[in-house]
Amino acid sequence: MSLLSVQTTSSTFEQERLYKRYEHLLQVNNSLSRKTVSYQANKSVPGLRWMKYKEGFSINLVSAILDEATKSEGCKERILDPFAGMGTVPLVSCGKGYSATGIEIMPVGIVATKGIVAASNGVRRSDFKRTANKLLEHISSDKGALTFNHLRITKGAFSQYTESQIVSATNFLSELRESPCKHILQLACMSVLEEVSYTRKDGQYLRWDGRADRTLRSSINKGKIPSFYNALSLRLLEIYTDFPHVKKLFGGKHPKVIENSCLRHLQLMNKNSYDLVIMSPPYANRYDYTRTYALELAFLGYSEDDVKTLRQDLLSATVENKSKAEELQQLYKNSSLFKNVMRAYREQEALQEILFTLEQHRKELSNQHVIRLIRNYFLEMSLVIAELGRIVSPGGTIYMVNDNVQYHGVEVPVDLILSNFAEQLGFTCENIWHLPKGKGNSSQQMGRFGRKEIRKCVYRWKNA
Ligand SMILES: C[S@@+](CC[C@H](N)C(=O)[O-])C[C@H]1O[C@@H](n2cnc3c(N)ncnc32)[C@H](O)[C@@H]1O
Repeated sequence: MSLLSVQTTSSTFEQERLYKRYEHLLQVNNSLSRKTVSYQANKSVPGLRWMKYKEGFSINLVSAILDEATKSEGCKERILDPFAGMGTVPLVSCGKGYSATGIEIMPVGIVATKGIVAASNGVRRSDFKRTANKLLEHISSDKGALTFNHLRITKGAFSQYTESQIVSATNFLSELRESPCKHILQLACMSVLEEVSYTRKDGQYLRWDGRADRTLRSSINKGKIPSFYNALSLRLLEIYTDFPHVKKLFGGKHPKVIENSCLRHLQLMNKNSYDLVIMSPPYANRYDYTRTYALELAFLGYSEDDVKTLRQDLLSATVENKSKAEELQQLYKNSSLFKNVMRAYREQEALQEILFTLEQHRKELSNQHVIRLIRNYFLEMSLVIAELGRIVSPGGTIYMVNDNVQYHGVEVPVDLILSNFAEQLGFTCENIWHLPKGKGNSSQQMGRFGRKEIRKCVYRWKNA
């Protein structure tokens, strides 16, 4: 056996048993594609195209789910997305006449949602045009000397000229009284930061252009980078053009947008207060939203400590996340709901088996905190599911988009484990659809453990 090969003495008995239990529900769904379950399909959709929130899912997916849920279960009135991102679910639902709530913890998503809501509900196009022109005038005439509030990982992201224009815009916005129009302008400014910077969002990282004032091991060339003024002018024009269309698409009912962690907020919601949940939580794949959106967080005034707190408050999906178990225990005291969650978590034998296998290979893992990540992820997700079991009315449905993951050649069947939690916590798992094409493993993992495709799924659970 070579030094790098993996011992396969750990049992996979429970994982196989779990697979057998759900095998009959696992189905390829040819109407699902990467484009549908991601932001890609929104690139030409008025409103949703204003901010590239790559983790969002498409208007088509939400519409298809709403249509199907309405057809098969009668009119669904009250819709919830506890991981709302840029608000695709509440926006599309309200546009179709339902009432909907989104909970989101990342201010980037909140600013985007509020901006789109403001344009679709309330702000007059002429008022927007007038204030947008004032913003542009201010930027072109202001010679303010204030500096941009950088985070450690954003230093050097802009040329001096661009940075001074961004600061001018921030000053203008801070002088503007709180109003729906301000939300649209804030979204517009935030949405062009990547474009005018020396960075590019690329998977887990910000890639850097060689022109940035940083010592770089490798660099990219972004080609011509527009000035903030020019990029913002184009975005404002796009918003102006989209105004009538967003009113048609998303106008009507006003979605409720809650800026909080759903881990804290769900317990404040009433029993049976929603009929349908459509959601896509972060995947258990180490992706760090605070790193990807560092420029936007810095623009919104986040300090290093604020970012650290935010990262810890996000659903645990990075190796940096510490356990929230104690905090949640305090929040829930000795409630029966929390006890049920702990029981379901401890009794999830396939999960315990996977954790045991990873423990045995702890020293070989690229990062040992992956084990903690998986533990935290499933504990927190089982709490979310238990709360949804209380909040969703009897007969109500949950649709969830999520990817399986793998570490050290061990596949973590997130779809099966979460569906099993759901069943332990009162739901019936009706379908686990997966995309015709799964996700390949990284080249490093492939070299070591062979090629493995992991499922990208949409699941449907019905509440008892
Ligand atoms: C996969 S994205 C969902 C995107 C969304 N479906 C959309 O269309 O924009 C997951 C979202 O969950 C949010 N999130 C992570 N932890 C959270 C928490 N504890 N409470 C609320 N939202 C959270 C992330 O900030 C991210 O926006």
